[in-house]
Amino acid sequence: MAIANEDLITAATEAREQAYSKYSGYSVGAAIVDDQGRMHVGCNVENAAYPLGSCAEAGAIAAMVQEGGSLIERIAIVGGRDAVAPCTPCGGCRQRIHEFANDDTVILVIDDSGKWQEYSIDDLLPASFHLD
Ligand code: THU
Repeated sequence: MAIANEDLITAATEAREQAYSKYSGYSVGAAIVDDQGRMHVGCNVENAAYPLGSCAEAGAIAAMVQEGGSLIERIAIVGGRDAVAPCTPCGGCRQRIHEFANDDTVILVIDDSGKWQEYSIDDLLPASFHLD
């Protein structure tokens, strides 16, 4: 494994520090390792027109695609707020991850103590919608 989980989590944590989350106060960072071993990060970006806000995972996926990546090998997601559970991806982001995932894709959800839980996309999005 070229990029250790700890390093991916550090990247997601640093991306989280850039979050623009003034409306919810809930900051999220995501870091992807793609199938070529490259890392891509994103953070949530909110908007005064609330529905226009975007999730950290969406930003990281957009960065991956822009750089030619097509498969998420691993994605780490760091987010949360006092007394709120760790940030498992929202429903829309599960579908976004699904688009660029396979059965081996690992989704790491990190809690405030730095521990992580590992999921597959089928764990998070069973009976998923797809066109192929
Ligand atoms: N958020 C993410 O960035 N990723 C998720 O998977 C869940 C939610 C963001 C959206 C919004 O800016 C804030 O967290 C609160 O919902």
